[in-house]
Parts: sequence; C-alpha cells; structure tokens
Amino acid sequence: MENRISITDLKAKKKRGEPIVMMTCYDYPSARLLEDAGVDILFIGDTLGMVVLGYDSTIPVTMEEMLHHTKAVVRGSSRAHVLADMPFMSYQTSREDALGNAGRLLKEGGAQSVKLEGGVHVADTVRFIVDAGIPVMGHIGLTPQSATMLGGFRAQGRTAEKARRLLDEAIALEEAGCFALVLEAVPAPVAARISETLVIPTIGIGSGAECDGQVLVLHDLLGLYEGRSPRFAKRYADIGGDIRSALERFGAEVRSGAFPAEEHTYAMPEEELEAFLNGSRAESRTET
Ligand code: KIV
Repeated sequence: MENRISITDLKAKKKRGEPIVMMTCYDYPSARLLEDAGVDILFIGDTLGMVVLGYDSTIPVTMEEMLHHTKAVVRGSSRAHVLADMPFMSYQTSREDALGNAGRLLKEGGAQSVKLEGGVHVADTVRFIVDAGIPVMGHIGLTPQSATMLGGFRAQGRTAEKARRLLDEAIALEEAGCFALVLEAVPAPVAARISETLVIPTIGIGSGAECDGQVLVLHDLLGLYEGRSPRFAKRYADIGGDIRSALERFGAEVRSGAFPAEEHTYAMPEEELEAFLNGSRAESRTET
C-alpha cells in the first residue's frame, strides 16, 4: 500500500499555515520530476487538452484521455497526492454520470481525488460524489469549461456583489463536502477573505498570495506552451527554447557528420571484423 499525501494531510497543512504546492502534471517523466521537487499535489488538469493534445480549448477532452494520462502520472509517483480533473460533460449531465466518471478516475486511473468546476449549481453533484466516498476539489472564479458563459477568460468577482456571490459559492461547496477549492483569477483580497472564511484549503491560480496553496500549469511555468498564457502564469524556465536549440544542434551535427562520433558507436574485435569483411558477399554484388 502506497503512502501518499491524503486529504487529511492537506487540511492539516492549512491548519499549520503550511502552503500547499500543486502543479499540473500529465505524464510519467514529469510526475517523477515533480515528486522529486516536493510537489504535494500532482494534478491531471483538463488543460491537458491544450498544452499536450493540441486542442484549442479544454472542451474536447474525453474521459479516456484523462484516464490514459492519470495512469501515467500514478505510475511516475508514489508519495504525492494525485488529483484528476473531470472533463467537460463528464459531470454536468446527471449526478449518476458524475459519480460513475469520478469512480472511473479512482478505480481505473488510480487517482486519490477528483476536481470539478462550478459553484452552487454543482453542490448537489459534489455531495452525491462525496457521499459515495470520493474526495472532491471544487473550482470557482474563472472556470475555463464555461468561459464562453463568463464572457471569455477574464478575472471574476470584481464587484462587491460578484465577490459576495463567490464567497457564497465557496461556502456552499465546503458545506457540500469539498476537501479543497481552486480559486482562479479572483481578486487577491476576495481570495484572502474566502481563504480565511473556509476551513478547507484554497488553492490559488491568479488569486494572490493569501490562498492556502498555489497551482500553475506546468507548461506555462516551464516555457513549453507557445499559446497565450495568462498574466499570472510566471515562467520559471525556457525549456521550449532549450529543446529547440538542442534539436537545431542535433540537425546541424547530423548534416555536417559531426554526430555520431566514435564514442557513440560500438567496436568489435579486429579479427572478427576482418573475417566479416573477407567473407562478405558485398563486393560480389552488382548493381541492378
Ligand atoms: O485544468 C487545469 O489545469 C486547471 C488549472 C488551471 C487549475 O483547472
């Protein structure tokens, strides 16, 4: 039995005032690196669709795709908490569909918990899933699956009334049984108020430093995604640039003959080589 970070450990971190580190993760090698770096939650987000699969939004992502990548992340980790996103239309159609799909992410995918987007209108679904024994993380503020309804990818809760509504949504999700809540693109003071009101941890993305943890999209942080990134997506590396320059050097060395060098090839005993060359039928072959 693996000893992974549990939802109780995550709640205890909030109590101790210890920030939770969450990062999106979609494959085996990244899972190994993220876990070595001490990331608490490896999150298979449906951003998978945009940063790995090349869709232009998260809408087309399927359950099968989420399961495929969740399994890889589970194989690449043993300590971190693995959280899987519920893709568009895997939980909106009915509570029963939502429970069935959440169950698949745990049973087949190997995740420890699931995340879904929405406020008061998903509270019943959350309760239904949690009552079946599946931990659920909520997600309010900018919810990319409903970006069209929200008028695009823009910050949420910027008037007193909308901020109050966000606080109400957060309370409703906590009461429905969520173990944590993502706050995306919410003004920092609003996120701070939500964080101090809730007992469960908040995980911010573009929502300021007062949240109980932070999450970013791995490909934004590494400089691996070339589409438009939001302003809150701080870039810590330029891995895309490193990959491009490594491949350009490889191509140039193949074309110039500099690669492979002797140290990249295998030798054979002299006498074996001689016997091979003498016995070879190559010289008796004629071109056709
Ligand atoms: O799918 C995702 O990557 C997310 C994060 C932006 C929190 O939901």
